[in-house]
Amino acid sequence: MIKKEVKHLIDIKDLTVKEIDDLIKVANDIINNKEKYSNVCNGKILATLFFEPSTRTRLSFESAMIRLGGNVLGFSEASSSSVSKGESVSDTIRVVGGYSDIIAMRHPKEGAPLVACKNSTVPIINAGDGGHNHPTQTLTDLLTISSEKKRLDNLTIGLCGDLKFGRTVHSLITAMSQYKKIKFILISPEELKLPEYVKKEILDKNNIEYIETNDIEEYMSELDILYMTRVQKERFFNEADYIRLKDYYILNKEKLKTAKKDLCIMHPLPRVNEISTDIDSDSRAKYFKQAEYGVYIRMALILKLLEVK
Ligand code: CP
Repeated sequence: MIKKEVKHLIDIKDLTVKEIDDLIKVANDIINNKEKYSNVCNGKILATLFFEPSTRTRLSFESAMIRLGGNVLGFSEASSSSVSKGESVSDTIRVVGGYSDIIAMRHPKEGAPLVACKNSTVPIINAGDGGHNHPTQTLTDLLTISSEKKRLDNLTIGLCGDLKFGRTVHSLITAMSQYKKIKFILISPEELKLPEYVKKEILDKNNIEYIETNDIEEYMSELDILYMTRVQKERFFNEADYIRLKDYYILNKEKLKTAKKDLCIMHPLPRVNEISTDIDSDSRAKYFKQAEYGVYIRMALILKLLEVK
């Protein structure tokens, strides 16, 4: 008997452009025909293993499976699992694979989901690994961009804030670099610039145009998308550095004065101070809608990995 290959999603690079476009199509079909999908995962179980805090990713995965008619189990912090007694991630995954049909896991160590998938009999989804990757946030971002801008090419995208540790930024750059006529404006303080390996291996390799600046207003008038990010306290070794950088950018009405009328303002959330709450009522603010899109694209991903027709 031929052993069936188990599909995982560890890195956004695991998906071709066609697969991403297909997932977006299915997500749009789900948005327009929710009832049609309400029982398609009857009897299936999603496990959410979160070794690091989360609101959106964990709950949107759980919401996605419940909306598909399936069930969920899991833990939301390492301290409530047997990892706190010294169990390895690999052993945890082997065991939970016997309790569930698909696993979404978040871990502070880069590469942990890749290690986990080597020992897994069920699909593993990387729900964020350290400062490395967050592929389902990227799928959420792509669905948001395609829904709000009606295209995934010919876009000038400003990425602002923590471009060094921001895993959502690294995954988004990787995915968007596969589309035509993409230009990035990389807005960060010197200490939080995009890592050289991302510039070399993704931007340069794909001949993607980019400009680096520390001034959020300098290229504002050119942007189709402004993707704000939080300066992440949990990634700093030194609290003084975090305090010095945490309020470096605060997007407010004044800073948006030259922005396009159809600018799309995104943020993976959680937000701390980097977007003033005054902006929330601006029709260009799409970050709460973006969080909702996350449910539909995760529904589409669960269907794909479980091979539910
Ligand atoms: N965007 C995101 O990953 O949010 P959570 O940390 O709340 O899951």
